[in-house]
Amino acid sequence: MSGGGTQVATTKVMRVVDLDKSYGGLRAVDSVSFDVYRGEILALVGDNGAGKSTLVKALAGAQPPDSGRIEIEGRPVQLRTPRDADAAGIGCLHQGLGLVDALNVPENVFLGRELQTKILGFIPQLDHRRMRERTIELLERFGINLPRLNDAVVRLSGGQRQTVAISRLLLQDVRVVIMDEPMAALGVEEGRRVLDLVANMRARGISVIVISHNLEHVFQLADRIAVMKNGRLVGIVETASTTRDAVVRMITFGQLH
Ligand SMILES: Nc1ncnc2c1ncn2[C@@H]1O[C@H](COP(=O)(O)OP(=O)(O)OP(=O)(O)O)[C@@H](O)[C@H]1O
Ligand SMILES: [Mg+2]
Repeated sequence: MSGGGTQVATTKVMRVVDLDKSYGGLRAVDSVSFDVYRGEILALVGDNGAGKSTLVKALAGAQPPDSGRIEIEGRPVQLRTPRDADAAGIGCLHQGLGLVDALNVPENVFLGRELQTKILGFIPQLDHRRMRERTIELLERFGINLPRLNDAVVRLSGGQRQTVAISRLLLQDVRVVIMDEPMAALGVEEGRRVLDLVANMRARGISVIVISHNLEHVFQLADRIAVMKNGRLVGIVETASTTRDAVVRMITFGQLH
């Protein structure tokens, strides 16, 4: 093979080396190393307490690791706060989604980086019109359908709220999106829309790390599957060349074969 066509798929966007995180005597993440490629969907699976959330919290700057190294496009980064992760192009969708119920869709998408205008040339004011226009552009670009932009997000469904939170991430120049159990509380149809959106992100070269207990979703969506047990990375397998049984065995017994 010439390899030219596979260039994009093999570009490393993130590299994690020997990451450790303990809570007291418990090693929640134990010497974990792996790479994330550009535009891939990497599923992270494992039993309750395997260390998945602890690992992604370290990658999202939500909870710094005790030791280890994280590189983004070949450069080491220190992710001490979510702001650091933001600057490195890592966006994280936490379980609570971080939306403000009383605000509408554009206000939530632009939360914390609101656009301003000046009336009479000097009095700063929120530029609602421009935030709305840019939100519509963004939603169209990613094929997201949200009919009621002016409603407070508290009135949206679970799936729609999820979509707003994802849109918020996409507004930035994000390289890696991390999602901790994004489909857990959604109905079938809403879950399918989120799956479509994740596939759309991949098509645009964004890498997605997604934690899920739903192996059906994982096999539908992921390019590779990383399995954790007792804080350790058991292994990473290509979805196309494994089976559900094999992944279940990895989760249960903590061995590759
Ligand atoms: N803040 C904390 N303080 C002490 N121990 C913690 C803390 N957070 C997690 N742990 C422990 O670390 C281990 C890994 O937890 P983690 O939340 O990362 O697991 P998980 O794989 O995300 O599980 P789940 O699938 O249930 O979400 C568990 O034994 C958990 O009890
Ligand atoms: Mg978890």
